[in-house]
Amino acid sequence: MSTQTFPDLIPLVNKLQDVFSTISSNDLLDLPQIVVVGSQSSGKSSVLENIVQRDFLPRGSGIVTRRPLVLQLVTLPEPAEGKPAPEEYGEFLHVPSKHFYDFSEIRKEIEAETQRVAGGNKGISRMPIHLKVYSTKVLNLTLVDLPGLTKATNLLTSRSRPATSLLTTSPSPTAVTPANIDLVNSDSLKLSRQVDPEGRRTIGVLTKLDLMDAGTNALDILSGRAYPLKLGFVGTVNRSQQDILTSKPMTDALKSEADFFKQHPAYRNIAHRCGTAFLSKQLNNILMNHIRDRLPDMKAKLNSMIGQTQQELASYGDPAFTGKAHRGSLILKLLTKFANDFVASIDGTSLEIST
Ligand code: GDP
Ligand code: MG
Ligand code: NA
Repeated sequence: MSTQTFPDLIPLVNKLQDVFSTISSNDLLDLPQIVVVGSQSSGKSSVLENIVQRDFLPRGSGIVTRRPLVLQLVTLPEPAEGKPAPEEYGEFLHVPSKHFYDFSEIRKEIEAETQRVAGGNKGISRMPIHLKVYSTKVLNLTLVDLPGLTKATNLLTSRSRPATSLLTTSPSPTAVTPANIDLVNSDSLKLSRQVDPEGRRTIGVLTKLDLMDAGTNALDILSGRAYPLKLGFVGTVNRSQQDILTSKPMTDALKSEADFFKQHPAYRNIAHRCGTAFLSKQLNNILMNHIRDRLPDMKAKLNSMIGQTQQELASYGDPAFTGKAHRGSLILKLLTKFANDFVASIDGTSLEIST
């Protein structure tokens, strides 16, 4: 089946993610998704902001991400000719029906919601924050930003997480040490090796290419000769600290990035395989393929969740009398509705759900 005719399953999996989160956050990592890992300052937030083409993540030194952020990007349709583009906005699962058009308010809400659950200090919580961003400029995609590299390792390796693809950020080598040695020893790739030893579901993002010493380049890494990853490496140039301080607009930053690759003597010939726009397309493909591979498992899982919820409901007796049963029946409704939409959109087969 070609990607063109296959229905876009990403929005459906997004819904599943919302439904699962009302049931148990432990199931979060069992859905197909792309988890962003990388050591501090390797450029995770910058890559995410570049992909969204907006400035919206909390910044600072130390551990800024203290709760997992499930970032669901939703493509808004292009407007009809002559009509203005629909305004992009964010929406949190915990603030239903409020549209955040001001992206600095999104940053504040992430900070406040982090404080609320993980406390004001250095506390870390595994309860995710769910944020959807609607925009004509994004491809459908779900990316998960996890707190700290050690926590990420624990979360990802504590059980087998076959549903998870990794995006690992590593800064380009700048020092005198040979580029390949730097890379192999990077914390980011050490972690992804633990989770994905064969390098099958990890895409490498090489950040800070603009900071490499004059006369050096990362062609051997970008072409896959330095380190084996089946999904390869994509080079990016994100905004520098100076760009952030001077509030360089995201559109200018993306233009500078594209120009950097087109004009660089070493990267000119591979410019079409470099940069944020290419990375976004790759990620969208990776996630689609991944979801396709996981469909049988997801169907089975949905079925068993529905079965469990039905059993639980039956054990409460008359649903009219207890709050628990009410919640249970809501979840059951959600799951069943979702399962039907889901199955209808992928094939004609039925989950044989009886309600
Ligand atoms: P995180 O800790 O992994 O989320 O890293 P950040 O995205 O916060 O980036 C850390 C610092 O590196 C920030 O000051 C960024 O501006 C800077 N940075 C990230 N990517 C690049 C890049 O491609 N080029 C340059 N010059 N600076 C970058
Ligand atoms: Mg960050
Ligand atoms: Na690293």
